[in-house]
Amino acid sequence: MKPLRLGIAGLGHVGCGLIELVEKQDKLRLPGPVEVTGVSARSRGRNRNADISSYRWFDDAATLAGDDDIDVFVELVGGSDGPAKFAVETALKAGKPVVTANKALIALHGAALADLASENNVDLLFEAAVAGGVPVVRALRDSLSAVEVSRVSGILNGTCNFLTTEMLKTGRSYEEVLAEAQKLGYAEADPTLDVSGMDAAHKAAILSAIAFSADLDFSKVAVEGVEGVELLDLTFADRLGYRIKLIAEGVLTEDGVVCRVAPKALPHEHPLARVNGSLNTVRVEGEPLGAVVLTGPGAGAGPTASAVMGDIAKLFTPSARPAFGRADHHSGRPFTTEINDERSAYFLRVRLEDRSGALAELTEALAAEGVSVDKLMQDSADENGAAPIAIVTHVCSNAEINAARKRLSGLSSPIDAPLLIRIEAAA
Ligand SMILES: NC(=O)c1ccc[n+]([C@@H]2O[C@H](COP(=O)([O-])OP(=O)(O)OC[C@H]3O[C@@H](n4cnc5c(N)ncnc54)[C@H](OP(=O)(O)O)[C@@H]3O)[C@@H](O)[C@H]2O)c1
Repeated sequence: MKPLRLGIAGLGHVGCGLIELVEKQDKLRLPGPVEVTGVSARSRGRNRNADISSYRWFDDAATLAGDDDIDVFVELVGGSDGPAKFAVETALKAGKPVVTANKALIALHGAALADLASENNVDLLFEAAVAGGVPVVRALRDSLSAVEVSRVSGILNGTCNFLTTEMLKTGRSYEEVLAEAQKLGYAEADPTLDVSGMDAAHKAAILSAIAFSADLDFSKVAVEGVEGVELLDLTFADRLGYRIKLIAEGVLTEDGVVCRVAPKALPHEHPLARVNGSLNTVRVEGEPLGAVVLTGPGAGAGPTASAVMGDIAKLFTPSARPAFGRADHHSGRPFTTEINDERSAYFLRVRLEDRSGALAELTEALAAEGVSVDKLMQDSADENGAAPIAIVTHVCSNAEINAARKRLSGLSSPIDAPLLIRIEAAA
């Protein structure tokens, strides 16, 4: 069999991980041989974890993408725009299938790129863009294509899950655990995309577009990160029977697909509450399936490169399968921002002035908007006279909790901004 010739742009963690897999392909279960024909990165002279001396070098990723000697263009540069996007477009226009791990690119431009792939009758594959080594994209797109999905949810950022897990386990602060995550290579030197929830949002948008055949529109995704979550919140929540985790979800509503990322309090017995450390997990719910959960390493050179290679293996028999599943991925089902009739219980943490009447003011403000207290926990005031309080509310409507939030912001007794987190119902 003729080898499948790869052009690889991006020789960082994932690119070098892929070259390592190419080199040991006799140990893998690929349908045929693969070979690297050309490579591209920013600086040719950089020391790398792979020997690239025998490959043709391209200064420009797009020139590699259009080169006649490659059968597949593999984009491992990153970034939603700029060279990655231009090179992917160049490859698709040249009739070459593309494999990418780039979630930002697919979340922001996936619909247009899928159109371009269809027009040119080639595959656009991005298994590694969501949950790294966990095979969820093609499972959702192909194996679960007969399931009417109602909800897809999960833990899609290993750094955030490591943060919330380790802070609670070891009693260390957000800053200390974030520094450790960087040292262990889970978090980037600049971890903003992780902790802001943006990275998880990119992945959630991609999964939602596939799961609901929805018109991918990243601007409608509501994104909240874990920057506001303190050790105090994790311990209070734990004592009240919950684990706080950054949850990404897509939910089908009558008005369209609500895709959002935010910290949530999960009951201890909830399956996602037990996913610890840097793992990723995705739960797909729908009829006639029930629920399916996939868990595993969501990042790292090896797991991510294995997902890239899995996509490459698929291209021995190109199918030009529509990138998001349905032939017409412009289904007319929009992304939308709010679940109108949603009702939830909430976890509220607030620091109050240590004076009589402060707690009554708080509970009265909640009650005035129809939000009643189910459980309440208070710790002693700290040296600054701030008394931390945690409240679990009864189930209330969006309108009630939003009005209560507004009323709380007008009170004089809270010392700093309260933290309000939705509680996930038991699964
Ligand atoms: N790392 C993970 O665990 C992981 C997991 C899932 C998905 N991903 C995705 O995989 C992609 C690659 O991630 P990574 O962690 O491997 O990134 P990385 O280590 O930062 O590597 C990026 C590579 O792109 C190259 N590059 C930058 N600008 C370029 C340009 N203008 N033209 C050509 N090459 C350029 C860099 O060149 P130099 O080496 O010369 O600087 C580097 O080799 C990203 O889309 C990321 O989101 C990563």
